Amino acid sequence: MKRIAIFASGSGSNAQKIIEHFTDKSDIEVSLVLSNNNDAYVLERASTLNVPVYVFDRQIFYKSNQVHDILRDTGVDFIVLAGFLWLVPNNILRGWQGRIINIHPALLPKFGGKGMYGDKVHQAVIEAGEKETGISIHYVNEKYDEGEIIFQYRFNILAGDTPESIAERIHQLEHKHYPEVVERLVRELGGGGNREQGIRNKE
Ligand code: GAR
Repeated sequence: MKRIAIFASGSGSNAQKIIEHFTDKSDIEVSLVLSNNNDAYVLERASTLNVPVYVFDRQIFYKSNQVHDILRDTGVDFIVLAGFLWLVPNNILRGWQGRIINIHPALLPKFGGKGMYGDKVHQAVIEAGEKETGISIHYVNEKYDEGEIIFQYRFNILAGDTPESIAERIHQLEHKHYPEVVERLVRELGGGGNREQGIRNKE
């Protein structure tokens, strides 16, 4: 069994699509949903779908090993960020190197970086007079939105488009492509557990 953890800060529509995508698969599951936001709707979505949730604060995330240890003890092989707003700390980046991905609602490397989230991104794209936008799925490193790009899908911006209308098309594309890309990458991991899991098993 390959185990996925999803980090999300808000609504969690992508998290829900990913959880649902794997519910009928016997060899891959979403084992845990984590959030920095106690009020995030993603927590309700996960609970409804019977996925355990874990909420942490800034202190726990950046100044302790708690989140790292929960991921390790759950046997997590792969980490998916889906509308998660904080940088991932080094202990987790090291433990799951090349196994953490994020989705961004624009064509990176443009319109990424700190504070570029949700409708702010679409507003910036419109103000810049871009002819097209889209979604980017990329590996996560220690900087916002700068890891290697894995997948992009683009579409034309139409006259009269608003941040809301763009957000709607972005979400449709994300819901279609993110679960498929996650599945492909998890299958490419091949056999064996994650490195942390291996260390734990030797203890
Ligand atoms: C998604 O559109 C995702 O691309 C974006 O947040 C939204 C979360 O929606 N992420 C970022 O902007 C990251 N910088 P959801 O909570 O409904 O899945």
